[in-house]
Amino acid sequence: MSVVTTERQGDVLVIISNNPPVNALGAAVRIGLQAGIQQAMDDDSVKAVVIRCDGRTFFAGADITEFGKPPVDPWLPELVDFIENCPKPVVAAIHGTALGGGLETALACHYRVAVASAQLGVPEVKLGLLPGAGGTQRLPRVAGIEAAVEMCATGTPISAAKAEALGLVDKIAGDDTLAADAIAFAQDAISRGPRKSSEMPVKGDPASIEAFAKANAKKFRGFEAPAANIACVEAATRLPFAEGMAFEREQFTKLMFGAQSAAQRHIFFAERKASKIDGIAEGITLRDIRKVGVIGAGTMGGGISMNFLSAGIPVTIVEQEQAALDRGTGVVRKNYEASAAKGRIKPEAVEQAMGLLTPTLNIEDLADCDLIIEAIFENMDVKKEVFGKLDTIAKPGAILASNTSYLDVNEIAAATSRPQDVLGLHFFSPANVMKLLEVVRGAKTADDVLATAMAVAKKIKKVAVVAGVCDGFIGNRMLKPRQIEAMKLLMEGATPQQIDKVHMDFGMPMGPFQMSDLAGVDIGWHRDPSRIENVRDALCAVGRWGQKTGKGFYDYDEKRNPSPSPEVQAIIDDFSAKAGAVKREISDQEIIERTLYTMVNEGALILEEKMAQRASDIDVVWIYGYGWPIYRGGPMFWADLEGNDKIVAGLEKHGFDIAPLLKEKAATKGRFN
Ligand code: 3HC
Repeated sequence: MSVVTTERQGDVLVIISNNPPVNALGAAVRIGLQAGIQQAMDDDSVKAVVIRCDGRTFFAGADITEFGKPPVDPWLPELVDFIENCPKPVVAAIHGTALGGGLETALACHYRVAVASAQLGVPEVKLGLLPGAGGTQRLPRVAGIEAAVEMCATGTPISAAKAEALGLVDKIAGDDTLAADAIAFAQDAISRGPRKSSEMPVKGDPASIEAFAKANAKKFRGFEAPAANIACVEAATRLPFAEGMAFEREQFTKLMFGAQSAAQRHIFFAERKASKIDGIAEGITLRDIRKVGVIGAGTMGGGISMNFLSAGIPVTIVEQEQAALDRGTGVVRKNYEASAAKGRIKPEAVEQAMGLLTPTLNIEDLADCDLIIEAIFENMDVKKEVFGKLDTIAKPGAILASNTSYLDVNEIAAATSRPQDVLGLHFFSPANVMKLLEVVRGAKTADDVLATAMAVAKKIKKVAVVAGVCDGFIGNRMLKPRQIEAMKLLMEGATPQQIDKVHMDFGMPMGPFQMSDLAGVDIGWHRDPSRIENVRDALCAVGRWGQKTGKGFYDYDEKRNPSPSPEVQAIIDDFSAKAGAVKREISDQEIIERTLYTMVNEGALILEEKMAQRASDIDVVWIYGYGWPIYRGGPMFWADLEGNDKIVAGLEKHGFDIAPLLKEKAATKGRFN
């Protein structure tokens, strides 16, 4: 059956798309829509047209899987013009999400009717693109310059109510009566005739564009697409429609064939692929997770609990002492209150979430939990003791998870009589904010336990990646060579500020030493000030524990602005001299080779050892767990762009052992992704 069908409702021709899952505007849909409009034009008895979609949503945009392939007529921009030029009024009936090319199609329709729950947006910027089917030219005319520039440059969708207030939606329809309401609207519009958005004057103040660009400059640092989106909206304010469209096309093409958009599109699909578990059928029966237990009310335990509370899932949180329990739940409350004060959640959501939290000092209270997550400090003996105890408390079938960031999950599982129910759930700090979750699959973890964990992750809005049991799993394991090389580079003549700047210029939110200062230089320190074996021991011994003590690798002022520290430099020089190192000028390229190429090398080992299912999973870990710039697509995608032969040559120059898989990619000019 065709993906686009038509039906007559009196004078109105209804064109219906049914292209699951999201009604992407692939070639078959475009051809069908064009044929539908043509049918309406050819039939004198048709007086108006409604375009609507079956399934869960209105068109969610162009079909991204077609990008980079030979184009099939009609192109979306042509189709959109064809719809707008229909001499009979065309009404878009919107439900779900009208996104990207979907909203552009709706903008070409002469009128728009939407259900209240609909979301309208142009998220192309998140794919490193801009709305390339007239969106940048029609939106400022229909919704006004201010809304257009914000929607195009941030990609954030707006509600139907806001769209109605802006003039982007003409009527809000009933949830169950959209089809009928749109037909009634179309019948009504017959006497008014078509209303072309391309012929409307641009609304609003052009000066707001520059103000917006200035206010958001920091957020857009490193990205090409936001500026191109802004430039197109600006062009709409001074060029006739046809010229604006030509400008939009030129900018769109430039972005489409650029490296940033390729990287961002890669991550769009990588994120979705990550949820799929090799070797486990998608339909596997999942375990029911209605109640969660969290052991430990520290920073991690509290943050982890918030994910579930926010998703409406009750949490029992356990601590050993009342003071720690009170402190932990107090922090959770404070975090919710801060979110409400900033308008991120509704005021009533604070009590709703807190009402789902049961603090207790009695671990036996976890007996009725379906999922129990241990979030205590990193000590194998203590963790084994806790899991041994859980084994006697938890109900049969409960999933037992550890939030360990590097310990052996198999050894933890062996402390129970039910290793099939045990796995790692490695949250990243702050756990209520960071999107990444490494789901660590133990040797004996049951398939349904793993699949349930991945489904739960989606429910709490995490991007989950399956990792195997190895030291540091995927993310922290790759961080290690970077940290080791960064410290060695200091000994050889680089400064913390040079190394951090190279990473910042690359697009990271911070460099290795800024990260160390933020996390705490003292993490993992032996806490004996008289035992000084390396630079870090020396820094800790003099109280340079990072931002929390006002000094670490940098000195900090009261506003936490960093400045280079002569004391740190003296400590580095001292160690360097003792080690007999010859200081030399270190190039930025050498820093990249030794701190980033080494990560790629480790990533290749991880793949070889099957600790990650696929290269794109590694990319997802680094984007969502460590702030790798999304426009560089993650370390393995970036390696493919750099050229794996170049990576190998760079590593060989510094005497590193090369992972066989990386060597093979280099030799065959192959790619990881
Ligand atoms: N093209 C092709 N496939 C798409 C797609 C698109 N535009 N949007 C979603 N899909 C696919 C996903 O890859 C996924 O496939 P899978 O099941 O094989 O993994 C499937 O549809 C379902 O998607 P989600 O898992 O994301 O479903 P959700 O319900 O969570 O979200 C959504 C739905 C909000 C529509 C979300 O998919 C989304 O944001 N899609 C992208 C929207 C977008 O970026 N549109 C702009 C496209 S570019 C464009 O229009 C250019 C034009 O200006 C010329």
